Amino acid sequence: MSFDLVFFGGTGDLTWRKLMPALFQAFRHGKLPAGGRILAVARDERTDEEYRQFIRERFSEVDSSKRPSDEEFDQFAALLHYRRMDLSQPTDYAGLKQWLDDRGADTAVLYLATSPHLFPAICEQLGAAGLNHDKVRVVLEKPLGHDLASAKEINRVVRSVFTEQQAFRIDHYLGKPSVQNLMALRFANALFEPLWRRESIANIQITLAESLGVGTRGDFYDRTGALRDMIQNHALQLLTMIAMEPPSTNDADAIRDEKLKVLKSLKPFTAESVTRDVVRGQYRAGNVDGKSVPGYLEEVKVPADSRCETFVALRTEVQNWRWAGVPFYLRTGKRLGARDAQIVVNFRPVPHPIFPSAGHANKLVIKLQPEDGLELHLLAAKGAGQGDALSPVRLDLDFDKAFPTDRVGAYERLLLDAIAGRLNLFVRSDEQEQAWRWVEPILDAWENSGSDLKTYAAGSWGPAAASALVARDGNAWAEEQ
Ligand code: BG6
Repeated sequence: MSFDLVFFGGTGDLTWRKLMPALFQAFRHGKLPAGGRILAVARDERTDEEYRQFIRERFSEVDSSKRPSDEEFDQFAALLHYRRMDLSQPTDYAGLKQWLDDRGADTAVLYLATSPHLFPAICEQLGAAGLNHDKVRVVLEKPLGHDLASAKEINRVVRSVFTEQQAFRIDHYLGKPSVQNLMALRFANALFEPLWRRESIANIQITLAESLGVGTRGDFYDRTGALRDMIQNHALQLLTMIAMEPPSTNDADAIRDEKLKVLKSLKPFTAESVTRDVVRGQYRAGNVDGKSVPGYLEEVKVPADSRCETFVALRTEVQNWRWAGVPFYLRTGKRLGARDAQIVVNFRPVPHPIFPSAGHANKLVIKLQPEDGLELHLLAAKGAGQGDALSPVRLDLDFDKAFPTDRVGAYERLLLDAIAGRLNLFVRSDEQEQAWRWVEPILDAWENSGSDLKTYAAGSWGPAAASALVARDGNAWAEEQ
């Protein structure tokens, strides 16, 4: 199957930091279909050779295990092309169409790796140039909108040019191997499904913690904040995967219909429940990995009086028969104690304990990063004397060890899926809008109240109020258990 993959924003950060290294991995693993061309388009004048040199130099900045040797790069570079385009000029789109038509590949994937405010204009130009025929797919990077109204407006324009089947909205968390394993865990194994409900599960915690700060992205981040940057998309997508009903098939729409139902079942926030159930925080100076780091307000391009949140913890519920009354806690933040993304499913304790208490009950930990695996926590007898407390032990499944050669990174997986036309791991417009609908009362309440922004020391696990939020239900975050 021949394909052309076009990156709008071909010299931007996303392209060289994430997309090119991911494509190179696919190429190195022999997964990139033969007969492909990769075209970068951007505003400045360059030859193909100059662009290849630009990417070669940028590769020195990516993780060394993902860096090509000179020989590998030369082979990969043969796929790379460059084209100057002024994105406001119809003639430039006509030129692009000609370039694509001249070869007539089976598929053209147009990846919008530009600033999202350009998406509507680019889509309209693509439509006017006839670059929306049925061999074309468009890939849209987040953030898709700033609120419900802007997300709807982007979707309206995208849908006026492309069908839903042609629109690939990226949430790179869905490409992470552990998230796909979550689907397998739930729907390819009968073991957990009977327990996957309110009768057996006490609460579920989703933590997306980063030890990094906002780095050089201060201006973007300050307009965005953790709720829009991580909760509206990544955390909610994980929640849907955990809470959804088994889909009737493994088709994209069967899966996305079920995910949408979860989003629609989330307990709506009111101004009052935002105050009670949502904690927002901002990091102050502190210590991370033994190094002192500045606070958010001292970061580059961040206004000294910013009230932007770099941390959010919240409590919600999925209001349906399976989950009624089970708290779902979501938490994300920059400059936390570690880079650690995981989902913890806490099971209920036994109804009638006959052993002396040994702390918490069973839990299943789905580890997304830095490791990718599963831990099942059990209580066991150490062989100690009768009457002694049991000890917690864990079954530890490390997917990197179980599948040492087949691991595929998130962007690699999503790019290959976009080329192959598989929509399962992409977000449908109604899911995305529903997620905005749900977070909007939080944004409104914060804007109206302006108060209660807590601070936390860099390197900690967030404001104390986040622990209190969970403790109120008699629970504790995983690291406090
Ligand atoms: C992005 C956010 O979507 O996800 C970033 O914009 C964040 O702020 C990143 O750092 C985290 O992704 P990952 O894959 O490193 O956990």
